[in-house]
Amino acid sequence: MTHYVTAPLPPQQLRCEYLENPLGIEETRPRLSWQVNDPRRGARQTAYQVLVASSVAVLAQDRGDLWDSGKVISDRTTHIEYAGAPLRSRQRCYWKVRTWDQHDQPSPWSEVHWWEMGLLSPEDWFAEWIGLRDETAPPPCVYLRKPFTLGKPVRRARLYATALGVYELRLNGRRVGDHILAPEWTNYRRRVLYQTYDVTNLLTRGENAIGAILGDGWYIGELGWQLQRNNFGEPPARLLVQLEIELEDGSVQHVASDGSWKATNQGPIRYSGLYAGELYDARMEMPGWDQAGFADEAWQSAEVFADPGIVRNAQMHPPIRITQELKPISVSEPTPGVHVFDLGQNMVGFCRLRASALAGTKIQLRHAEVLNPDGTIYVDNLRKAKATDIYIAKGEGVETFVPHFTYHGFRYVELTGFPGKPDLDTITGLVVHSDAPRSATFITSSEMVNQLYQNIVWGQRGNMHSVLTDCPQRDERLGWMGDAQIFVRTACMNMDMAAFLTKFVRDMADSQLPNGAYTDVSPYVSASGALPPAGAPAWMDAGVIVPWTVYQCYGDTRLLERHFDSMARYVDYLDVNNPSGLWVSCRGNDYGDWVPANSVTDKTMLATLYFFYSASLVAQAARILGREEAARKYQAIANRVRRAFNAHYLKDDHYDRATQTIHALVLGMGVVPARARASVARDLVADIERRGWHLSTGFVGTKWLLPALSDNGYDEVAQRLLLNRDYPSWGYMIEKGATTIWERWNSDTMGPEMNSRNHFAFGSVGEWLFRYLAGIDIAPNGAGYRKIVIYPRPGKPEGELNYVKAIYESIHGPIVSEWRITPERFELNVQIPANTQATVYIPAVSAARVMESGKPLRQAEGVSYVKTVRGRVVCEVGAGTYAFTVRR
Ligand code: BGC
Repeated sequence: MTHYVTAPLPPQQLRCEYLENPLGIEETRPRLSWQVNDPRRGARQTAYQVLVASSVAVLAQDRGDLWDSGKVISDRTTHIEYAGAPLRSRQRCYWKVRTWDQHDQPSPWSEVHWWEMGLLSPEDWFAEWIGLRDETAPPPCVYLRKPFTLGKPVRRARLYATALGVYELRLNGRRVGDHILAPEWTNYRRRVLYQTYDVTNLLTRGENAIGAILGDGWYIGELGWQLQRNNFGEPPARLLVQLEIELEDGSVQHVASDGSWKATNQGPIRYSGLYAGELYDARMEMPGWDQAGFADEAWQSAEVFADPGIVRNAQMHPPIRITQELKPISVSEPTPGVHVFDLGQNMVGFCRLRASALAGTKIQLRHAEVLNPDGTIYVDNLRKAKATDIYIAKGEGVETFVPHFTYHGFRYVELTGFPGKPDLDTITGLVVHSDAPRSATFITSSEMVNQLYQNIVWGQRGNMHSVLTDCPQRDERLGWMGDAQIFVRTACMNMDMAAFLTKFVRDMADSQLPNGAYTDVSPYVSASGALPPAGAPAWMDAGVIVPWTVYQCYGDTRLLERHFDSMARYVDYLDVNNPSGLWVSCRGNDYGDWVPANSVTDKTMLATLYFFYSASLVAQAARILGREEAARKYQAIANRVRRAFNAHYLKDDHYDRATQTIHALVLGMGVVPARARASVARDLVADIERRGWHLSTGFVGTKWLLPALSDNGYDEVAQRLLLNRDYPSWGYMIEKGATTIWERWNSDTMGPEMNSRNHFAFGSVGEWLFRYLAGIDIAPNGAGYRKIVIYPRPGKPEGELNYVKAIYESIHGPIVSEWRITPERFELNVQIPANTQATVYIPAVSAARVMESGKPLRQAEGVSYVKTVRGRVVCEVGAGTYAFTVRR
């Protein structure tokens, strides 16, 4: 049946601050967004109306008692700032939206969505910080509890909670929420996040009890390769919770952490550390401790601690949680009594153990990424991270254990102490990470490339635990800035990272030094409290590149605006210290192009290129924000750095001693003068050829390499590097069985010292897979995919890459590029979301060879032909689905 649509359908994907129906929003002008729902070609929004109401009932009358935007003539669907009545703490706001199309036809109203305000002022907090001192090292987890009585049925209840440390909350014997490692990681010297839970259904009239378990987490637990403790303040861990209960009769009852709570360190979690793992003695369980009626006479009074005087912010990004369960694919017994499970995937999280054992039986799980040749686990590359969970059984039939405040990076699990023969149900892998929504699908005709893409995504999932980390397994797992800036664009293809990165950018700013320098890791880690040294080139620059990337991918100008002074101060710091324009001083640990394959990149060249890049991004940001003077200033700095670089290094249109990395950067960053572009690109290819068509780049260069080749007419060389199977290449890792991205091109032959099997940095090629191979990109001035580029780079019909399909869920809706090449035809299926437009570059020598949905291109509805250049037929399309075919 043909379905004729004459008006837009109800808008969908309503979001507030990137989140769906969020609790605990602390923006007083939260930003709303939606997607126009209109399958017609060329569908556009010409106007919208937003209604925000204090109740569903008011909204049902099409009234917005908090805000009625009226009909706003605008094509914007994202980042619409709420502009109604001032919002109060705890306020619930219901909203809906409708849109008008290009014929001024309105859509029906959307479904009702809501957001709820968090606690906006320090006065909203009446809870006190509580905990229990303990000199034991490592300290056992502290259990805290408080019984209370509710005289009436409950209408609505909210729990606001945070900790210095990590917490798990219980109400009446049930878990509150599904967060893992809340309140997550920030620079606790300045800031801690609080979480908001709707606990209405966990409460009952009559006797209730709230319970909390407190662990060390990042606040005072071991962190960094020296296993330093207390990096953000003094022990012990502390809890802050505030339970606000509205009863049926409208009265309000509060339960808050204070000195009346009881505490014990005699619970079953004897310790639980991020690196070390957990020791759980089930014999010490305290049945009913988190319920009313529990006899807590033996518990002590909780100690009240002074307010640390740091900022409390609502968590406005997806929490760390369990996102998937993996069943082992095999179990072996390399030595008697030692069982090794293979989960089939290098994953990050922990295991659920099921066992039936006599009381006191000690069952141990050790985690590893790799096996020794004899089938035992290889743990040397974990360095000092013990990654060991121990369960001591209570002897009551089938017992289940899941650790609380740790995570491991592993594919293999060694089980010892297990009574009898385990089977594949004995353990289950629980995948744990910040649960940002997935936003991409990517498949090709090459199994190797498909595996590579999966490895990239697993690398991302393994290295986002409220901060982007370098690795998830060894005694490190820090917010390394270089790794983050290299991978961030790929990360934003794979997942909707806007909310997560908004948080991470604040971590960077919180770690920025008074002189404007950023640090190598954010949050910085300092047991003494002393400020860390300034960071290194290409590491510090994450402070500029990450917010810039969020702007590019999501059109977020608020983040740029808020972060602008920080970015500018950073470039000032480089400028003041390097007046010649070459970045010669203040290079911190100066990592250079980290872990390359057989090449050494000049560090001054690399640093200077990043100096240029950051200055030019700050100039662009200034232009976008309308700060003309700043734009001129930073553009002048960028120009001066570029001139200095070329004056120093460019001789007769060639860069002396330039590695692949330098060649890729000068091309990608736009440092090469136009006249020398072709010769520099040829030099890059010549170097690749000299190495038998292999790359030699490290972390930094790899991100830029394939894009530089494609941008300069060398798609075939880029594909060749992508498809290599021998060292050094991505294919090499995969041939060796990698299911994540290795830290080093030769992780298989390197020693254990710095050799993680789960580093996402080399996965930065994901950016090329989407932007070039599939060809989904952002047009200049098209931030947030308002203007899209579809520029696929097909391989050869007989080659390994003759089919690619990529779907990217942009903030406007799904963008699809799917192509297939045969000896006779090239086919390209494209989907462009409503209210956006795209420039499509079709590989064809003339428009006459191109058909769209069976019609000659020039007659196709909604397609306008622009020109034919360099073997590409270029056309503009609006929203809709298009099927192009080219006779070859
Ligand atoms: C980390 C890297 C990081 C580097 C600094 C390493 O230990 O694992 O990913 O960027 O140090 O060069």
